[in-house]
Amino acid sequence: MIMKIAFYDTKPYDRIWFEPLAAGYDYSIKFFEYKLTADTAPLADGYDAVCVFVNDTIDAEVIDILYDRGIRLIALRCAGYNNVDFKHSYGKIHITHVPSYSPAAVAEHAAALLLTVNRKTHRAYVRTRDNNFNINGLIGMDLNGKTAGIIGTGKIGRIFIDICRGFGMDIIAYDPFPIDGADFSYVPLQTLYAKSDIISLHCPLNGDTKHIINSAALQQMKPQAIIINTSRGGLIDTAALIESLKAKRIGGAGLDVYEEESEYFFEDYSTDIVEDDELARLLSFPNVVVTSHQGFFTREAMQAIAMVTLENIHAFAEGEELVNEISY
Ligand code: NAI
Repeated sequence: MIMKIAFYDTKPYDRIWFEPLAAGYDYSIKFFEYKLTADTAPLADGYDAVCVFVNDTIDAEVIDILYDRGIRLIALRCAGYNNVDFKHSYGKIHITHVPSYSPAAVAEHAAALLLTVNRKTHRAYVRTRDNNFNINGLIGMDLNGKTAGIIGTGKIGRIFIDICRGFGMDIIAYDPFPIDGADFSYVPLQTLYAKSDIISLHCPLNGDTKHIINSAALQQMKPQAIIINTSRGGLIDTAALIESLKAKRIGGAGLDVYEEESEYFFEDYSTDIVEDDELARLLSFPNVVVTSHQGFFTREAMQAIAMVTLENIHAFAEGEELVNEISY
């Protein structure tokens, strides 16, 4: 049987990586530029599966619309699934994801953000292009000998720990499910906040972790602490972060994700007015670097994402076990 797949939120790079690999399967893929929402879900009428990304909406309303139109598989082409109401989809639509494609890609991007915020290379780049060779205000700190606090020691967190060790940093970590025999210390969150010179978030977004970095957490941090978030925007209370940055209570932030990113990230607003005042305020700080959820974006990761997503769809089509199903 030819599987008909409605592919939402398509960007040119999705087609580049998915089309050649999909040619090896009996698939008919329709690439929509729209995100999946309650308004666009009816476009999936007549398809067997939908393929979605991080900022598509897969809530109860969308699941019901898709189910009524015969969709029985939602294939996420990403790891995180905080945008999916998988309790509601239980018994109706199977949900698969790509649990691991290149944890190194995300960890390396976290390192890029850390080095940029610390040594202010984003500002140096702009200055020297304008023939301004003054280095006032670009001072950073040695990472060697400093303490990195890692929240979440899963696949990405552990690679980031190795990278930090390469810089000569001491590691402390917090994770409610610690690794047995870890060669670093697990500490309570309060200790991590108080002792870390840099704090990097590598845990999933869920009911326990939403706003794990809130006003109280920020107040416990060192004044020069740098926060790196490559996980999910909702881990940080943005208003509280802005207050801390304004009050100069922390050293800076490198953010690949943002609480309200779904409208802006991956889109070109360069000739529009950004109406999100918190995003605009974040972008105005010299010690904040925002990237647009590109931690995953390496050639190796894109190839792995396309391969695993297509294999997930294939397993569903063949009635095989869905090894990458998100089960409630
Ligand atoms: P993973 O599942 O291997 O590790 C997550 C770790 O977080 C686990 O060790 C888990 O025990 C821990 N954890 C769970 N609850 C916690 C809590 N309350 N406090 C602290 N730690 C907690 O996941 P992986 O592959 O390392 O990914 C981490 C996150 O990175 C994902 O959840 C996803 O949101 C994000 N991500 C971001 C990408 C990007 O492009 N920026 C791409 C891929 C993933």
